Amino acid sequence: MSSGNTSRSGLRRSQCDVQIRWMIRRDMPEVLDIERLSFEFAWTEEDFLCCLRQRNCIGMVAERQERIVGFMIYELLKSQLHVLNFAVAPWSRRQGVGRQMVEKLVNKLSQQRREEITLEVRETNLAAQLFFKQQGLCASSVLRGHYEDTDEDAYVMSYNLYPCDEQIIPFASRKKAIEQPDSDAEAA
Ligand SMILES: CC(C)(COP(=O)(O)OP(=O)(O)OC[C@H]1O[C@@H](n2cnc3c(N)ncnc32)[C@H](O)[C@@H]1OP(=O)(O)O)[C@@H](O)C(=O)NCCC(=O)NCCS
Repeated sequence: MSSGNTSRSGLRRSQCDVQIRWMIRRDMPEVLDIERLSFEFAWTEEDFLCCLRQRNCIGMVAERQERIVGFMIYELLKSQLHVLNFAVAPWSRRQGVGRQMVEKLVNKLSQQRREEITLEVRETNLAAQLFFKQQGLCASSVLRGHYEDTDEDAYVMSYNLYPCDEQIIPFASRKKAIEQPDSDAEAA
C-alpha cells in the first residue's frame, strides 16, 4: 500500500490536496465503487440512502481532481459523533486522505459542542485499527459477536476532546483539536 520508491514527501505534497465536502446524490456511484472495493460485506446503495435519509446522518466525501477518493458517514448523537462507515479508495491510500477526513471530524467536535468521536472496528481489521490509533483514537471496549455476518467482535475506538483515565487501552497520545469555522456545525 505504500508508494514504493517514489519520494513519499513529494507524493504527499502533490497528491494530498483533497477537498472535503458534504456528499451529494451524484457522488453515489463513486462512493459505491469505493465501498465495494473496501469491504467484503459492503453496504448497498439502499443502505446508504436509508442511512442518509435520517436527519442526524451526514455524508462527507474527499475529492481530488474531480474524483471521489474517500467518504465518511457519521451520525450526530447528543454528545458524540459516531462514525458509521468510512473508506478511502484503494488507489489513494497512504497519502493522508483518511487522516484529513478524521481531522475534519475532530474539528467539528468543539464547534458542535460534542466531545467525543466513536466508532466500531472489526477485530480482524488491523489496518484500520492502526490507522485510527495513529489519529489519536483509543480502544475503549469490546462488543462480543457484534457483526452478524461473521460473528466477529468489534473494538470500540474513541477520541475524546477531554480525555479521562477510564479508557482501558490508552495506547495513543492525544491530538489537539483545532477550532475552525465550518458549515454543518449546528446541524441537528
Ligand atoms: C483505514 C483507511 C480509511 C486509512 O485511510 P488512508 O487514507 O490510507 O490513511 P492515511 O494515509 O491518512 O494514513 C495515516 C497514517 O495511518 C497509519 N495507517 C494507515 N493505513 C495503515 C495500514 N494499512 N497499516 C498500518 N498503518 C496504517 C499510518 O501511520 C499512516 O501514516 P503513514 O502513511 O505516514 O505511515 C483505509 O485504509 C481504508 O479505507 N481501509 C478500508 C476500509 C476500512 O477499513 N475502513 C474503516 C472501517 S472502521
